[in-house]
Amino acid sequence: MAYSKKDLISTKDLTTEDIYQILNLAKDYKNLNLQNEKKSPLLKGVTVVNSFFENSTRTRTSFEIAAKRLSSDAINFTASNSSTNKGETLIDTIKNIESMQTDIFIMRHSSSGAAQFVASRTPSCVINAGDGCNEHPTQALLDLFTIYEKFGSFNNLTVSIIGDIAHSRVARSNIYAMQTLGIKVKLFGPPQMMQYAEVFGCEICKDMDEAVSGSDAIIMLRIQLERSDDETPFPSIREYCRYFGLSKTRMQKAKENVIILHPGPINRGVELNSDVADDPRISTILSQVENGVAVRMAILDIVYKNLKGL
Ligand code: CP
Repeated sequence: MAYSKKDLISTKDLTTEDIYQILNLAKDYKNLNLQNEKKSPLLKGVTVVNSFFENSTRTRTSFEIAAKRLSSDAINFTASNSSTNKGETLIDTIKNIESMQTDIFIMRHSSSGAAQFVASRTPSCVINAGDGCNEHPTQALLDLFTIYEKFGSFNNLTVSIIGDIAHSRVARSNIYAMQTLGIKVKLFGPPQMMQYAEVFGCEICKDMDEAVSGSDAIIMLRIQLERSDDETPFPSIREYCRYFGLSKTRMQKAKENVIILHPGPINRGVELNSDVADDPRISTILSQVENGVAVRMAILDIVYKNLKGL
């Protein structure tokens, strides 16, 4: 069975087969991206709307490149210079853009559930590019692609996710997909950033040594200040770095071939030290960004074919 929906909102909707379908197709697109001629004609004549109601560097750029490599017409809509500032509702905005015969919405919004809200009210495809604290499914899929590329299998893998779990949509989407694949997930962060973390059914670690040891991959997360009710979610950045940040010294208990992932943007000297972030033997941060284009091409390919019944 293949993924059959016109939207991608949550990794909860993906079976093991769906995940492999996306990753295998992404591998083909990664090969295409390494050629001089990087274009596929697949989405010629299709209009993709990058609808970003919240800031983004990697996701927005990578979806735009992915859409253009598939030969679609990709346009960027950013809320900051739109009529949402004049009081237009989200659905009115979408319906107005849709009237111009667009086909696919890539949507980022600060409200959890916004992508699903739109998906159920438009005949177009909707791809969730991050909704509040809820989910960021394409980030999780590119993380999985990067892990698979390194280890060649998901069997017997342990992944640690460290940092602001409570506010992280990246953590949620990764946890759901990794649990589907049978990957063991360990979580660690300051107590105020681990609220309700036990609901995920992952192993909760008591300190950094426990979080780091025995893991094949470690996903470091930044403090999501924009989603925290608290203006100072941690009393001292120096102490955050000491107890919850990752440095070479902190990695002494890590496996020899461990890899470090981060969705970006990284805050150097807070959750991640430069000695780790910039070491290409362990840091996969820029590979994640590279893989994001291929994974998003695969997702655009699949949801559009589902929409058209191809
Ligand atoms: N990883 C990620 O979502 O980064 P951006 O916010 O820059 O898109």
